[in-house]
Amino acid sequence: MPDFIINTDDNVYVPAEDSYMLADNLQIKPGQSVLEIGTGSGIVAMYASRLTDNITVTDINFDACELARKNFEDNGIENIEILFGNLFEPVKNRKFDVILFNTPYLPTEDGDVIEDTINYAFDGGLNGRKVIDVFLNEVKNHLNDGGIVQLIQSSLSGNEETLEKLDKLGFIAEIAEKEHFFFEDITLINAYKI
Ligand SMILES: C[S@@+](CC[C@H](N)C(=O)[O-])C[C@H]1O[C@@H](n2cnc3c(N)ncnc32)[C@H](O)[C@@H]1O
Repeated sequence: MPDFIINTDDNVYVPAEDSYMLADNLQIKPGQSVLEIGTGSGIVAMYASRLTDNITVTDINFDACELARKNFEDNGIENIEILFGNLFEPVKNRKFDVILFNTPYLPTEDGDVIEDTINYAFDGGLNGRKVIDVFLNEVKNHLNDGGIVQLIQSSLSGNEETLEKLDKLGFIAEIAEKEHFFFEDITLINAYKI
């Protein structure tokens, strides 16, 4: 059970097992700079705030930015920077020690798209990799040497593809956690920039 006050919003992802898989396995050392892409309710960043006081979060869903702001406020967390926008666009030219992303990883047919901002929470395009691949292509430019990427995805969106891509980009990557739910494994992938 979360030990934070967590307000929810119909248009924002409600924290679930994948959120807690990331929150429970954060690889953050005191003082490190952290970027969380796609903060949603802000749950992961709130756990991260127990480990460092240097956190920036982004979301492409403005409702999520607003909800995260409220959750940080209601939990007395004052020093998290909240930026609205697509992936790394709000943090151009900035680098971090740790980058976190619980991705929208569900393979989604056109007919399953929801015409509202909540769609950003799960829609990974036809193969589940629409956002993951763009994220992976850009992440290295925003990570300090010795930094780590922690990403959540599903077996439905191709764990091996992610590991291979990270390997090609020069990361040492591994599946750090895996849990089976109904028809998929949810995985936490840790990737170290060497
Ligand atoms: C699965 S939810 C995770 C939310 C929260 N981090 C958690 O773990 O509960 C994915 C989040 O990523 C956001 N998102 C999706 N695509 C994005 C993009 N291109 N840039 C920034 N945020 C994005 C969604 O709006 C959503 O809040």
